[in-house]
Amino acid sequence: MPFTTDLPPLNYIDGHWVRPASNAAIEMICPSDGHVVGQIARGNAQDIDAAVAAARRAFDGEWGRTTATERGRLLSRLGLAILAHQEELAQLEANDTGKPLKLARSDVLATARYFEYYGGGADKVHGDTIPFLDGYQVMIVREPRGVTGHIIPWNYPAQMFGRTLGAALATGNATVLKPAEEACLSIVRLTQLAAEVGFPAGAINLVTGYGEEAGAALSSHKGIDFLSFTGSPEVGTLIQKSAADNHVPCVLELGGKSPQLVFEDADLDKALPVVINAIIQNAGQTCSAGSRVLVQRSIYEKVVAALAARMNAVRVGPHEADLDCGPVISKVQHERVAGFLERARQDGIPVIGEGRLDERAARSGFFVKPTLLGPVPLDHELAYEEVFGPVLVVIPFDDENDALRIANGTEYGLIAGVWTENGARQIRVAKKLRVGQVYLNGYGAGGGIELPFGGFKRSGHGREKGFEALREYTVAKTIVMNHG
Ligand code: NAI
Ligand code: MG
Repeated sequence: MPFTTDLPPLNYIDGHWVRPASNAAIEMICPSDGHVVGQIARGNAQDIDAAVAAARRAFDGEWGRTTATERGRLLSRLGLAILAHQEELAQLEANDTGKPLKLARSDVLATARYFEYYGGGADKVHGDTIPFLDGYQVMIVREPRGVTGHIIPWNYPAQMFGRTLGAALATGNATVLKPAEEACLSIVRLTQLAAEVGFPAGAINLVTGYGEEAGAALSSHKGIDFLSFTGSPEVGTLIQKSAADNHVPCVLELGGKSPQLVFEDADLDKALPVVINAIIQNAGQTCSAGSRVLVQRSIYEKVVAALAARMNAVRVGPHEADLDCGPVISKVQHERVAGFLERARQDGIPVIGEGRLDERAARSGFFVKPTLLGPVPLDHELAYEEVFGPVLVVIPFDDENDALRIANGTEYGLIAGVWTENGARQIRVAKKLRVGQVYLNGYGAGGGIELPFGGFKRSGHGREKGFEALREYTVAKTIVMNHG
């Protein structure tokens, strides 16, 4: 019997599970075989109105009066509840997204870590004092933004719940969350857990549904004080336009074309498994996937041969087979990735390595063979467009300056990996890369909740994770006191 959930297709507004105004539901499909896993509510503008109003009442009421200590305690309790339900949440996540179970399990752990981390951070957001004129005392108080709107994607639903709500709740904002229509069942369950641990009504509101309906209604809502969005650059532009119309700030995380730079003195035994994993993890559907590998020409043939051998050994299968790579999220995403591969074939880009489909991979699943291609010319779309699938492109470079030129040569700038044993070069290159995170002799696609994260250029702006997020979700108020 395929796994199904009986989570009700309801929104969570003002502390109650309620039917959507549309009275309609959306079926959630398992990418491993296409079976229906469950249903979510099809929320629309009316539901968003109710959710924003509930958040405003919470912010002006009980939730707004909650002390930092109490908020921290609630977040910590939610972290513990998530740990206690790790296996249940991981099953839900794996069936909803198709990701291998081991990845779903580590995602749920990371979700718990967000609430542990921000639970501990809630009462450590300090203000400042500023020396001023004689007879004056100046205080800088960090206040919450108010009602925050959160629109997130389907690639890591559970983790994204923690990433986007953790810091917002820790700092006392009242939140409205619109997750992705492709996958968000774990979020419905996480919201149930949040209600159980005692978050007051209106602190967390969940409206599920389509981007064009519920999402657009949320991002353009006049009652929102701050917007957080993770997803495509195209929708990121729409979100930023809405934010501009309403004069509210926003944080945008819009993906990347993140490079791994492999210099001739790199420790290849250390580097190559990480390079492969950084593109097959979550079937390449990670904003910080390492989707370009730049290799110094003197070791190009050797590295390409070794990468090809590793790519050929990768097997793809359903989530329950628990291999290193699962299906992509949907038919649409499958077609998108297949389109990139087909155009590359027509353009004569050599395929150097290719993973295999496991025999358990159903024909009805959205499987893509992980593919290594190269050399890819810099003016080919594969060298600069985000594929969001298990597709790794190899590009040769001559020297350090050439490597930097290529690495910085796309419109994106999210993260990068640098492989070299030369310490001076490590820091030189790290400082010149126009990205938000640089890994020296390592790579971390996804995790690291303690580490500030965000992009430059088309990858977006603002920072999430770590203490930086606590700053994003607060705003400085200057209080000037004349006691002379
Ligand atoms: P998307 O940007 O359309 O969806 C992300 C979120 O935005 C979802 O919750 C969706 O419902 C919402 N949304 C969609 N249209 C909206 C609108 N008009 N107003 C407000 N909210 C809206 O991304 P999609 O279609 O799922 O994927 C397309 C491509 O975007 C992918 O192939 C990938 O390249 C990129 N992407 C990048 C992600 C990242 O983590 N940086 C995550 C998801 C997609
Ligand atoms: Mg879309």
